[in-house]
Amino acid sequence: MTVTQSGAKWIFRLLMVLIIFQGVCVMFYYTPNTHSSRDEMMDALRQMHCAKLRRKFSIFKPAKTIKTQSFTRELSDFMSCPYRSNTTEREVNRLSLQIFCNATGFLFLTKRNTAVNQSIPYETSTTDTYTMNASLHSMLPEDFPWSGRRLGRCAVVGSGGILKNSSCGREIDSADFVIRFNLAYINDSDVGLKTDLITINPSQIQKEYKNLEEDPDLLVERVSVYGNASFIMPAFAYTFCTELSIRALNVLYPIRPQKPMAFFSPYYLQTLDGYWKRRGLKPRRLSTGFMLISTALELCEDVHVYGFWPFDTDLQDNPVPYHYYNLNRPSKRMHKMPEEFVRLLQLHSQGALTLHLQPCSSDAP
Ligand SMILES: *[C@@H]1O[C@H](CO)[C@@H](O)[C@H](O)[C@H]1NC(C)=O
Ligand SMILES: *[C@@H]1O[C@H](CO)[C@@H](O)[C@H](O)[C@H]1NC(C)=O
Ligand SMILES: *[C@@H]1O[C@H](CO)[C@@H](O)[C@H](O)[C@H]1NC(C)=O
Ligand SMILES: *[C@@H]1O[C@H](CO)[C@@H](O)[C@H](O)[C@H]1NC(C)=O
Ligand SMILES: *[C@@H]1O[C@H](CO)[C@@H](O)[C@H](O)[C@H]1NC(C)=O
Ligand SMILES: *[C@@H]1O[C@H](CO)[C@@H](O)[C@H](O)[C@H]1NC(C)=O
Ligand SMILES: *[C@@H]1O[C@H](CO)[C@@H](O)[C@H](O)[C@H]1NC(C)=O
Repeated sequence: MTVTQSGAKWIFRLLMVLIIFQGVCVMFYYTPNTHSSRDEMMDALRQMHCAKLRRKFSIFKPAKTIKTQSFTRELSDFMSCPYRSNTTEREVNRLSLQIFCNATGFLFLTKRNTAVNQSIPYETSTTDTYTMNASLHSMLPEDFPWSGRRLGRCAVVGSGGILKNSSCGREIDSADFVIRFNLAYINDSDVGLKTDLITINPSQIQKEYKNLEEDPDLLVERVSVYGNASFIMPAFAYTFCTELSIRALNVLYPIRPQKPMAFFSPYYLQTLDGYWKRRGLKPRRLSTGFMLISTALELCEDVHVYGFWPFDTDLQDNPVPYHYYNLNRPSKRMHKMPEEFVRLLQLHSQGALTLHLQPCSSDAP
């Protein structure tokens, strides 16, 4: 910046301050009811503050440590500002995700988009493949169940400890479509009960259902909590996932043949990875939460995100557990949760989705 440019900028700022000051004086001088004019002024200042924070967070590029004191304070202020939806942003995101990734065509493997004997690649490998045989193919879902219509208001419910005591259950349950992760516990008060799509992590099968074949009832009982929900597993993320996913499918298929479990398509997850890499988000692997929020941006009219908060303290600086149901942490090497959170915050500020970080009020939604 040259000296004249910065000089001009200062003069401009000075002028702005003078104009605002004059405006405020005039307001106080001419308004008989000073109390309401003071309220109006406070309101105008609040609106300016909100607009400033909205601009800031919509292009936010944090330093190494994201959650500093000033970040928490500003984010807390911003979350009290009225939410501004932006239809243009929503449609631009939807269209580009449709063109690059196409969840309707490819979110999971179906009888329609996958052939017998087709060689299926692995999401994270350039060499390994899996050959789809006739018996596994016969257990794939017929077709994508939600094509041809928008999914309305969707709630994507992460496992963040901020959901504890949040009273968000009623608001979440009032959504048209609810997405959850890793067979997370549900209850009416904090996280809601409605579940339309829920993921199972292959490592959950590995750790918690070691004797799946001898004792399938344990898993059958666990999944029965979610009623009619669709289950989905990343069977072709890594080679170790395939056998675990097929074993789970073998248990669930006989009890719900109309709605067998789905496997994420590795083609979809690869294109989604490329989509976000091109936009500067480059973790070793996107979290499943971030993947399905992206899916929701394509399929849903309106995306509400709950329980995504990868920090140890909340907006009031009270400690929060990492998950609302246990203390497990994701691998820092694998995922970049804080960077993903910054993206979600950008999308929220741009009006593309709504991020919920505070307890829900009882008169919601
Ligand atoms: C909505 O987003 C578009 C694209 O970023 C932007 O040009 C427009 O000004 C935004 N509209 C409002 C009302 O903020
Ligand atoms: C997505 O895939 C479906 C099914 O293959 C296809 O009908 C649709 O045209 C595709 N959409 C786009 C935007 O390519
Ligand atoms: C798949 O491969 C097997 C073994 O090579 C063959 O017998 C079968 O006809 C093939 N099926 C289809 C549908 O191509
Ligand atoms: C098909 O694949 C499944 C899972 O890998 C395997 O258990 C089964 O034996 C295979 N069936 C045939 C006929 O090869
Ligand atoms: C939730 O509320 C209970 C009882 O009201 C309290 O004991 C507990 O500390 C709260 N937990 C969190 C994480 O706020
Ligand atoms: C489950 O889904 C089937 C078909 O999609 C529907 O007929 C049935 O009413 C649903 N059951 C419940 C409990 O929602
Ligand atoms: C709901 O789940 C949360 C988290 O596990 C727990 O703290 C709370 O007590 C539960 N509430 C009810 C009514 O079960």
